[in-house]
Amino acid sequence: MCGIVGYVGPNSSGRALEVVMDGLTRLEYRGYDSAGVALVGGSEVVGAKRAGKLSNLTKALAEQPLPETTTAIGHTRWATHGGPTDENAHPHRGGTDRKLALVHNGIIENFHSLRKQLIADGVVFSSETDTEVVAHLVSRAFAGTGDLTAAMREVVNTLHGAFTLLAVHSDQPDVVVGARRNSPLVVGLGEGENFLGSDVAAFIGYTRRALELGQDQIVTITPEGYTVIDFDGTPSDGKAYEVTWDAAAAEKGGFDTFMEKEIHEQPHAVADTLLGRTDETGLLVLDEMGLTEEDLRAIDKMVIVACGTAAYAGMVAKYAIERWARIPVEVELAHEFRYRDPVIDEKTLVVSISQSGETMDTLMAVRHAKELGARTISICNTHGSTIPRESDGVLYTHAGPEIAVASTKAFLAQITASYILGLYLVQVRRDQREGVAEVMSELQRIPEKIQELLGSMDRVKEIARFMADTRAVLFLGRHVGFPVAMEGALKLKELAYIHAEGFAAGELKHGPIALIEPGQPVFVVVPSPDSEHGLHGKVVSNIQEIRARGARTLVIAEEGDEDVEPFADEVIRVPRTSALLAPLLTVVPLQVFALELSTAKGLDVDQPRNLAKSVTVE
Ligand code: M6R
Repeated sequence: MCGIVGYVGPNSSGRALEVVMDGLTRLEYRGYDSAGVALVGGSEVVGAKRAGKLSNLTKALAEQPLPETTTAIGHTRWATHGGPTDENAHPHRGGTDRKLALVHNGIIENFHSLRKQLIADGVVFSSETDTEVVAHLVSRAFAGTGDLTAAMREVVNTLHGAFTLLAVHSDQPDVVVGARRNSPLVVGLGEGENFLGSDVAAFIGYTRRALELGQDQIVTITPEGYTVIDFDGTPSDGKAYEVTWDAAAAEKGGFDTFMEKEIHEQPHAVADTLLGRTDETGLLVLDEMGLTEEDLRAIDKMVIVACGTAAYAGMVAKYAIERWARIPVEVELAHEFRYRDPVIDEKTLVVSISQSGETMDTLMAVRHAKELGARTISICNTHGSTIPRESDGVLYTHAGPEIAVASTKAFLAQITASYILGLYLVQVRRDQREGVAEVMSELQRIPEKIQELLGSMDRVKEIARFMADTRAVLFLGRHVGFPVAMEGALKLKELAYIHAEGFAAGELKHGPIALIEPGQPVFVVVPSPDSEHGLHGKVVSNIQEIRARGARTLVIAEEGDEDVEPFADEVIRVPRTSALLAPLLTVVPLQVFALELSTAKGLDVDQPRNLAKSVTVE
């Protein structure tokens, strides 16, 4: 959600401002509605903040003289407390002497009472934000201690909620202090310069050496080094690691949009997620599982918690894991799970799925599950993020950074990782090595099939362009095709702002068929003709039913499936694979369709309106 950058380095011309603006640009993908920077210069902190895109901020900065400085902080804001205005944009100043500036990601839950107290003490506020409260508190604490780290520590211990905070003070010009609780903050380690960022994208153009901070920790960076302490003052080392994502991976790589690039990275996302999961004998080995085989044998139920696209990956996982591992699997939206008193205990395995690892709803669900004694595993794309850190174990997806707000390659990687988890449970609980090897070998062929499919999307793009004025699109699917239909509808809502609904095809006759009128476009995800229980024939009948009522049928079917031809206005072919693995292919045309339609409408593909990449508030 909000993006945060901090920098301290040598006093060379414009470097601090350049690094911070570059970091903010790389963090744009997180979604924002205003931005600002603060530079420590002379006896005060200067800078600018503006509602809207970074170009507004750049313009405002160009209109004023800026100091040569070693130290700067920057912020892109996604409004929570107070609308997206210049006043509410960060950084916020504390006190009246223009010496302190502070940025914040998250929500301070007790800000009302703190603000009331400050107002009673005579403090005048210039914004509606919870952040400004913290800025005044840190400024006040600094007046007592003369040390920014000590001041930050004094204040964070009075705050409730989720926050990453960065502060600078002109009396300590070569220092940036950061603090984190329930919200991400990473340190970038350079030569004679150091960085802070909400994620590594903020400084990936300058250094690959990073430091992971723990929960409730404060970091102080100077040009020469850094120190980390816990909120109680205990010194800590932090955990250094090498960032494996390169700078180019965070850029568009020749495509017009990040989303298009990420759709084309899907063969790699699946292949890389499969990489290194088996030993030389073909046995699955999940190094970071965190739970012993005995633990996994004791499990009698699984609950998958996630939001949005990740939840649809969870729905696919349910079909596969129940089928293969014969263990009951529930799938629940994380925000519903947390508040309905779920029946789980130490025999329940709660699996969270999250690209960012920072989605607050999912994090809260994981915490709740832990409180209730459940074992927890996270399927996550972001190393060192909060959800995997707080789970017993993790299965990282290797999709690489996903920048576009609409999730694509992460979805395929999440499904792949769920299959691996399901197969691991088969191996551990049912001791069936052959079945596992068979599915793994079919999975290994998927990247090539996605590549082939991506090469045949011209007609899908044409259909999308013709449909730029369409007001509503329906999506039908059955079995694993049902979550694919929901995902197709979500992509279209997010990207093209078109009313779209995904239904289980069997549910049609129970109501949704009333929506069918002449010309209504309906995508139908058809199961493989080899599917069990005659599902294929049932869905072909559904196509006939809607066609008879005038629907325009856009059918996604396996190569060689001739049964659909007589009832389809368009047939979009996908390569053959086993029924349970089909979502890794059938969703691809739906992603391309939404992308193309959004482009045809001239919309912002990578940053659709009202959305943030990572939703770090409940
Ligand atoms: O980072 P997460 O996977 O936890 O995010 C979950 C959802 O917010 C996310 O999938 C969202 O639905 C996407 N915008 C969908 O494209």
